Amino acid sequence: MSRKKYVLGNWKLNKNLDEVTKFFSTFNKTKLNTKIVYGFAPVGLYLQTASKLKKGNCLVIAQDVSEQIEGSYTGQVSCKQLKDFKVKHAIVGHSETRKFLGCDDKVVNAKVTACLNNGITPIICIGESLQQYKAKLTKKVLTKQINTIFKGINANNATKCIIAYEPLWAIGTGLTPTTKEISNLCGYIRKVIKQLFNTNIANKLPILYGGSVNDNNALNIIKLNDVDGLLIGGASLCPAKMIKIIKNIDIWLTKK
Ligand code: PGA
Repeated sequence: MSRKKYVLGNWKLNKNLDEVTKFFSTFNKTKLNTKIVYGFAPVGLYLQTASKLKKGNCLVIAQDVSEQIEGSYTGQVSCKQLKDFKVKHAIVGHSETRKFLGCDDKVVNAKVTACLNNGITPIICIGESLQQYKAKLTKKVLTKQINTIFKGINANNATKCIIAYEPLWAIGTGLTPTTKEISNLCGYIRKVIKQLFNTNIANKLPILYGGSVNDNNALNIIKLNDVDGLLIGGASLCPAKMIKIIKNIDIWLTKK
């Protein structure tokens, strides 16, 4: 079955107001007539700016979202508030929110539940550490993460999620697993989803890869079986690189 392709940029704690504005003024110069789903996750403060500046189908994505909807939760932003700015996607469980903000799989499960109850598509990040990779524990880690994160989520809601497989050791390091490993592991994630729900859900769920994706390796990765897209950090800061990535994938898709 053919699923959509995704190219999503996570800007992390980069770009101030001026830089966000400049990014879109350059990026918007290229008219992208594409079926690829693409978008950017700026710092929360600039979601509104990005929503105003972006053109066409470009998504504006939150880098995180609270599992709470309102109340005494200092420093958080809720799904309800994201929707005020037409933000319909949120990254949850990124390894940096796990590392620096104390987010774990149970919290990710609560965030996913909040997203699904409030019309936000969660982009769920999972992945193993270098130590776990070296100890050949990747599949075990991924299984445990998926089982905890999807606890209590019904099949209908599961199809509204996006999974991003991001090995921790590949994020921002310039290192990536081999294409064979990426393909195998994205296939494995689909298998776990199938066991948890059913074949139909597993076939529908978009699975992205993230970790040191750039304009040179993007096409080879997205071509892989079971890889439906890319979650890109560093390289997504540059409009020319993102345009090159999207255009190259488009050319490949039209030839396919
Ligand atoms: P990177 O980041 O592309 O800079 O490795 C990916 C991510 O953190 O999602």
